Parts: sequence; structure tokens; C-alpha cells
Amino acid sequence: MADETAETGGADASGKRGTGPDQGPDRGRNQGRGPCPEAGPTRGRARVRGGGPGPWRGWRAAAEEALYGPGGFYLRPEGPAGHFRTSVHASRLYAGAVARLLVRVAGELRAAGDLDEVVFVDMGAGRGELVTGVLAALDASAAPGAGGGATGTGVPAGGPGTTHGPGGAGPGAGPGGARPEPGRLPEGVRLRAYAVERAPRPAGLDPRVEWVAEPPAGVRGLLFANEWLDNVPVEVAQVDDDGTPRYVEVRRDGAERLGPPVRGADAGWLDRWWPLRGPGARAEIGRPRDEAWAAAAGTVAAGLAVAVDYAHTAGARPPYGTLTGFRDGREGPPVPDGTRDLTSHVALDACAAAASGPAELLSQRDALRRLGVSGQRPPLALASSDPAAYVRALAGAGEAAELTARGGLGDFTWLLQGRPAGGY
Ligand SMILES: C[S@@+](CC[C@H](N)C(=O)[O-])C[C@H]1O[C@@H](n2cnc3c(N)ncnc32)[C@H](O)[C@@H]1O
Repeated sequence: MADETAETGGADASGKRGTGPDQGPDRGRNQGRGPCPEAGPTRGRARVRGGGPGPWRGWRAAAEEALYGPGGFYLRPEGPAGHFRTSVHASRLYAGAVARLLVRVAGELRAAGDLDEVVFVDMGAGRGELVTGVLAALDASAAPGAGGGATGTGVPAGGPGTTHGPGGAGPGAGPGGARPEPGRLPEGVRLRAYAVERAPRPAGLDPRVEWVAEPPAGVRGLLFANEWLDNVPVEVAQVDDDGTPRYVEVRRDGAERLGPPVRGADAGWLDRWWPLRGPGARAEIGRPRDEAWAAAAGTVAAGLAVAVDYAHTAGARPPYGTLTGFRDGREGPPVPDGTRDLTSHVALDACAAAASGPAELLSQRDALRRLGVSGQRPPLALASSDPAAYVRALAGAGEAAELTARGGLGDFTWLLQGRPAGGY
């Protein structure tokens, strides 16, 4: 195997190029890919810039260092939004919908008993974009003349009877249902907002946001993990010519080889969640994600924990896995050199089983519709009665359509895990 190979440069999944939130591809389109040459053990070698190709290691250790080690991808100043965009970057509607969910959870907790503080946890927060958007949506709802109201952190506000039950756009939905107001937190309930991140706190972040390395334990409220679990490093397994699943080892330049047979808890996980059939079949061993999710969801004493990711479930696993890379707005080979994101779809059914509390899996399309976000166009009559509102509603409908699109962000999966009896 040659060590110094020109980077292959993978296909741009979305057909777009660019680096910013306006241009970068979302990461939900790298559905399971076929075998050789892309998925074989020699995939994606990169030209090594100093330091040599490095030692052979399992993918979990290699990705851990490449993403979170010194100079790692997620610690770089440009943050994830410099390389790809998530639903959070795509539209303010997304944070608005999450704020709405938080209001519902708070309403349910209040209905079940005393509640003076509700917590929102943005798990794997990037640069805090989601928690910032949630606070902004609640602030807007609380503004004089707004249809709903909410507290800023620590400020009691809101009127009674403003939480919403499941289904439908409910009160406050904008024309066409595209821009729902989140509504108000129950009267007298304070909001405490956390961002949980491995990267340092960004300058200029809303001072109401508490920036922490671990989710706070024992909280009541909503923990929301948008595209976090796909970045929890995992081992990769591949079946050899004799039918034995082996760990895939990788170097810093992306060259791969087959290592020792998969044993122990990893083998048990494959047997239960992703049985591999036939030489060349590959899988990402999701056990560390199950454990990470169980721990994060377990910090919610009462309320709801939500994980949103591109996912697969038993019976529909991709035969060759989905491990891929993202850099500068383009999808490319997964090379653990610290210059790019390394990501693979999440076995969210396994995560759900690992955590306690009732679980539901549904598409982002359905989840957002339940929260009042739809791509429905505003009625034409609005164009003559209130042209400005019509234009706003039309723009909102376009953004909602992107968040719920088939073949795009709408195909993401939401895992709702009630703690212990929450839901929406
Ligand atoms: C793909 S980004 C998603 C950012 C943001 N949630 C969004 O949707 O735009 C994943 C983020 O999870 C963070 N992350 C990964 N593991 C983490 C952990 N154990 N604790 C906190 N943050 C973590 C990474 O640093 C990265 O910022």
C-alpha cells in the first residue's frame, strides 16, 4: 500500500459547494454507500502534511483524537457551521419549534406538580446557536403585543393557559402554519439554559447561557441533542473473506486495514443490533453512542430528552455503513487527520433501548408538523389584506419546506425519550 496518495475528494452529496450556513450541504444525504472502491479497506487516503501517516488504530481512538484532541476539528475557531449546516443553521423556525416543545414540557411538568424552574439543555451545542435561538424565540413571544409570552432566564412571566396539547399548530401559529409562536412558560416558572460542549465558550454568547462540559444532573425540563450522537466516535467492523467480523484499523492518512476479530461487548452489540452478513459487509458499532445517550437522557429527572440525527433502525441498516467526512462544505473521504468532520448515521433504536423511559422514533417531518411547522403556503387572500405578512409567511413556508423535505432534513429521525413520563 502506498503511503502518499492524493486525496480522492468524495462526491458533493448535495450538489452545492461552499462553506457557510448559506452554502454548505446538510449532512443528512450521505445515505448508505456501496462497497469498493469507496468502502474497501484502502479508502480515502490523504496526502499527509507533516507528522507521517501515524500508527494503526481502531476508528474510535482515531476519530476521538481527530475531532476532539489537540487541534481537533471541533475545537477549531470556525466551528461546525464553517463546514456544514444543520437544521439549526437552516432556519430560525427550528429553534422556534424547540422553544415550543420546551413550553409544552414545562406545561406538563407544572400540571403534574410544583415547578419553579424549568431547564433547557442544548447537548453538543456547537457554538450555542440552538440555545440562542430558543431564548430569542421565547423573548419574542414575551414581547409586548406578541401572541404568546415567555420568560427570559430568571424572569417570571407568562399567563396561565398558554401551554399546548399535542397535535396541530395551535394558538400562535402564523399564517400558513409556518411560523408558530412558542407560547409562554407557565406563570412564575424560571428558565435556566445550558449549552453542553467540548469546545470553549464562544465570545459574545448570551450571558444567560451557562456553558458547561457535562449536562447538569437531576434537572426538570428538556434536553435536546441535535446532531450530537453522530459525532460520538465508534469502532468500525468489517467482515473478512472467511466471514469473521474484524475491527477496521486506520492511519492518520485514511489508509485502512483489517485488525483483530470483534469480541466481547462489541460483538454482542453487533449480534443484537447490526448482524453482519458476508465478506465486505461493514458496520459502525454504536455501543458508545448508546452509553452516551443513556447517560445524557439520565440527567433529566423529569421531562423529555430528544436526540435528532440521521439514523437507521434494525432491518434497514446500510450494508456498508455510512462513515464519511465533511470539510469546507463538501462531503469527502473519512480521513482522521483533524481537518474534517467524521460522522456516521446513528442506530437510534439501540440508543432508545439503552436509556430508560418511554421512547418514540419519528421523522423530523412529522415531529415538526406536530410542533406547528409546515411548508404550507399562506392563503392568497392574505396577499391583498396584509401584503407584508404574506411575504413573511411565504418565506417561512419556504424554510419550513426545507426543514421537512423528503430526501433532505425532513428525513432526520427524532428520538423522544420521556423522563420518566414526559412526552408531547
Ligand atoms: C455536528 S455538531 C452539532 C452542533 C449543533 N448541535 C447543531 O446542530 O448545529 C456536534 C457537536 O457536538 C459536540 N460534542 C461532541 N461530543 C460531545 C460531548 N461528549 N459533550 C459535549 N459536546 C460534544 C461537538 O464538539 C460538536 O460541536
